[in-house]
Amino acid sequence: MQCIQSLRVLAYLTTHVTSRRTFGTPDLPARCSPTTQTLRLCCAFKDSTLKTHLDLPRRKPVGIPAEGAAKSEGVCRVPTGIGKSLLERPRHSVKVRTFDNIPPGSSRGVIEITSKEKIVEKIQRLKKERNAIILAHNYQVPEVQDVGDYLGDSLNLSKIAAGTNADVIVFCGVDFMAESAKILSPGKVVIHPVRGASCPMAAMIDVESLRELQRANPEAATVAYVNTTAEVKAEVDICCTSSNAVRVVKSLPNKEIIFVPDVNLGLYVQRFVPEKRFIFWRGYCHVHQNIDVEDIRELKEKHPAAEIMVHPECQPAVIDMADHVYSTQGMMQHARDSSARKFILGTEREMSYRLGKENPDKFFLPVENAICTAMKKIKLEDVLNSLETLEPRIELSQDIIERARLPLEKMVDIGRGD
Ligand code: 13P
Ligand code: SF4
Repeated sequence: MQCIQSLRVLAYLTTHVTSRRTFGTPDLPARCSPTTQTLRLCCAFKDSTLKTHLDLPRRKPVGIPAEGAAKSEGVCRVPTGIGKSLLERPRHSVKVRTFDNIPPGSSRGVIEITSKEKIVEKIQRLKKERNAIILAHNYQVPEVQDVGDYLGDSLNLSKIAAGTNADVIVFCGVDFMAESAKILSPGKVVIHPVRGASCPMAAMIDVESLRELQRANPEAATVAYVNTTAEVKAEVDICCTSSNAVRVVKSLPNKEIIFVPDVNLGLYVQRFVPEKRFIFWRGYCHVHQNIDVEDIRELKEKHPAAEIMVHPECQPAVIDMADHVYSTQGMMQHARDSSARKFILGTEREMSYRLGKENPDKFFLPVENAICTAMKKIKLEDVLNSLETLEPRIELSQDIIERARLPLEKMVDIGRGD
């Protein structure tokens, strides 16, 4: 049995590992016993560098210190899934592979380390070969933002998607953003690198409930925040983003407006058009909803000279405290133009990365727990993988594309309002 395993490993190394920088070779030692509770990978390392990367604070793998690190060669047992968390390390990407045909509980594998620089190099090369562009939302993790050809808010990125000559769009954001790109550029291959990177607010309204609301309010125009599914967009008069919601509502002749799904954005818009009657859907973004008055007050007490910029998805009480209310791109613009040196951010925490990068002489103070986990699902490895495989693609029916296109195009044509 041991002999068969070794042959498998040899075959694996020959076919998979030659082009990678690989620390460690699996020698499948006898003492690396199968476990029943957790599927474990058994590896031997020839390079103790790996220890520092495996020795993560929260998911410490079993057995490393004694055997894997102290000696230059040793054995470690790594719970499956550790490879994924290691992908989040800034310098390296780690892949844990298991071998086929080995029963659960006795899986064995090799850990491969590919440097971040190598991944970026590959991404750049493949982008040219595929005539692809990478669009990245301002909330993406820094390493993904850094490979983006264009960064921006929902409106920016929709405009770029509608006008690009590229054959392939790799959309690093949440699903409704990639869907909008497909609707605006149906002839192109649109890839959303991680299928599950999905905005929870967009899932808060469905077509049937919306139709019911429309039947009950036949005089009203329906405005959908772009954070909705393609199916919902197909049912509405016009879409909007956080950058142009006020402008969109003002452009409509109707006195009644059904505004879905974000009630906070709707209430913010209502401040500027008190003459219209709003019918709201009670959806919200959990990230912005959870930013509360105390979070902002605390930051302001510590940094009294800082300007407060918040996103219109925040609660009304938080908006009341703000000096400025902007979409994420609006915040970029304002930070550039303002003479202030410190800014408190009432939005997703990652916003401080790009703001800091483009304004190195200014300080950006985020609310630390304002994190959109959906946005964080896409990693550099996923971007590479999507360029290698041209998957996973956004596929929408012709009918949905045709019906959702008009409201989206109207939104793009209206332009920015911040
Ligand atoms: P922006 O369009 O302002 O970037 O906002 C998108 C989003 O999802 C905010 O939560
Ligand atoms: Fe959706 Fe909120 Fe995340 Fe934006 S920040 S993608 S609205 S969950």
